[in-house]
Amino acid sequence: MIFKKKIGAFTVFVKDNNSIYEKALNDFLSGRMNILKLLRSEDETKVWLIDTEKGPMVLKLFVPKHQKFERILKSLIKKDYYQSLIYKTDNAISHGATMINDIYLLAQRKICNYAYVHIILMEYIDGTQIINLEPISDELKSEIKVVLEQLHTYDMVSGAPHKENTMVTKDGVKFIDLSGKRCTCVSRAKDRMELERYLGIKNLKKDWGYYVYISIKNTRNSIRNIRKKLGLRRR
Ligand SMILES: Nc1ncnc2c1ncn2[C@@H]1O[C@H](COP(=O)(O)OP(=O)(O)O)[C@@H](O)[C@H]1O
Ligand SMILES: [Mg+2]
Repeated sequence: MIFKKKIGAFTVFVKDNNSIYEKALNDFLSGRMNILKLLRSEDETKVWLIDTEKGPMVLKLFVPKHQKFERILKSLIKKDYYQSLIYKTDNAISHGATMINDIYLLAQRKICNYAYVHIILMEYIDGTQIINLEPISDELKSEIKVVLEQLHTYDMVSGAPHKENTMVTKDGVKFIDLSGKRCTCVSRAKDRMELERYLGIKNLKKDWGYYVYISIKNTRNSIRNIRKKLGLRRR
């Protein structure tokens, strides 16, 4: 169960109100975090593998710097994706989902509904990213396809099931870096089409979601081409 509380300037969501997760947040905020490895360091995103009382965990810091105006507008009408993600993950895991990492804590600094700092503490997945297993065998491709379909049955989508976000572990295929977006027939079709695009896993399901997704994509491409022709866009 997820508990919502205020800790200093942060709005915090903690799984099972567990104090170990809160301690990990405090250690991070006070610079006492025990870092085992830096997993990603980019403009908006930093991800560390850290050591805690409960063993290794992953801590992600996301500070949006681009498309701020769009994000602020979206925050007025849409639920925060990370907030949805922690609740959806908790629900899926309590119903037996094993293909995703658990999320232990989410801390956000907000102005109204707009979160301008996100700190996510999560389960460490010990495995190998698909990007390091190329070429991908047909057997593995079939497993990835099945596991993505299972993920959808838990009312969750990956949002980006590419080679970095798909992992092989001793307990099977798992997806990391989930989006928290709504699981609709269109977002499910997008997941399947991304498997086709990035992993060469053919999509055979041509439902309503598929046709709507393709139409949205074609419309976006046409607008992009028109903008390019008009010189409003370089690439
Ligand atoms: N739960 C996790 N378990 C193990 N490694 C992870 C986990 N989450 C992220 N990582 C590692 O950190 C990298 C960056 O994290 P990710 O959440 O995918 O960031 P981004 O949003 O920038 O893609 C991943 O490609 C992976 O190597
Ligand atoms: Mg990623």
